[in-house]
Amino acid sequence: MIHTHHNYDLSALNTMALSATAATAIIIDDESVLPSLQLAAPWMVLSGGSNVLLPHRIEATVVMPRMMGKKVIAEDADSVTLEVMAGENWHDLVSYCTTQGWYGLENLALIPGLAGAAPVQNIGAYGVQLEDALVSVRVYEWQTARFETLTKDQCQFAYRHSIFKDDPDRYLITAITLKLHKDSTKTMSNYGDLHNHATALATQDGRSSITPMDVYHAVIDIRNSKLPDPKQLPNCGSFFQNPIIAADQYQSLLEQYPTMPHYPMADGMVKVPAGWLIEQAGLKGGGIAPILTHTKQALVLTNHAPLIATQNDIAATAMHIIDAVAAKFGIRLVREPVWIDRDGSHH
Ligand code: EPU
Repeated sequence: MIHTHHNYDLSALNTMALSATAATAIIIDDESVLPSLQLAAPWMVLSGGSNVLLPHRIEATVVMPRMMGKKVIAEDADSVTLEVMAGENWHDLVSYCTTQGWYGLENLALIPGLAGAAPVQNIGAYGVQLEDALVSVRVYEWQTARFETLTKDQCQFAYRHSIFKDDPDRYLITAITLKLHKDSTKTMSNYGDLHNHATALATQDGRSSITPMDVYHAVIDIRNSKLPDPKQLPNCGSFFQNPIIAADQYQSLLEQYPTMPHYPMADGMVKVPAGWLIEQAGLKGGGIAPILTHTKQALVLTNHAPLIATQNDIAATAMHIIDAVAAKFGIRLVREPVWIDRDGSHH
């Protein structure tokens, strides 16, 4: 069904807790209605609201996909292929799959948002990205009014990137298909102190080797210790991407800052953590009130004036950080969450 609302309050539907109203909101809980939807421009899609910066008033029609359900579409002794509708809560999905003994998503526990938005920025954490488990994405193409299935390759995934970011108005994601494995001895735990943390949980339980469930619990513990819960301290996760710099720039920075953490990339470039750069620039816990970086993770901007702070407040702190990091390191940080204008356009 299509549910249409006017002057729809989005304040509780964005994790940055910005006060926002949509001129019109359309909630869709069944994809079969899409071809009959007469959508007047301008319009935009809002999923779980965990990666957006909303203006006070959106004159565009806000489309909110809320199709629910998941079903096993193939299964054998080693794996399960699962189709998940776009409106399913991501963390609940991870919990469900891990409990079922379907593994591959455990590192992505506790990421806020809905399943349908997961491919857009190719969500990733603790050494795993969505693309590692994803098979395909079911989309509705607005212009042709047709459903289509995009393979993983067609999605053009990269770090925090996909075709859906390049061409945001082309498709509505209606479902994702994931392939999960059943081997409880296999799990990805070589990110930071994840292995030690998961091993401690296994040891407490009298086991000598870790399981995906240990990794799931360790990820939850680590996230809870560093990342603010949006319900208590509004935020939209990492505010900047981790910059990827050329090897020679990295070498000259390393001479000045020998302890700089870094992750070599396959193409010879080097990823450096933006959180470290911000902390070194003296801005951990800093910024321009009421938007401050988190005291335990400088890459997360937090809103200390829920429903009062505006996009302009966020822009002020973001610019302050970008300028400070550029001045100290010669690296220009790039914003990760999507900025929405009054007319629904985004950048
Ligand atoms: N660091 C600092 N100071 C800080 C924050 C980080 O020195 O204030 C250092 C850490 O000590 C560590 C390094 O930076 O050496 C990396 O930190 P962390 O492991 O916390 O991860 P991150 O690079 O800051 C990325 C993702 C997160 C994801 C974590 C874990 C991006 C933009 N962010 O953060 O994703 O949870 O890795 O995998 O890639 C998100 O996208 O919203 C998000 C939270």
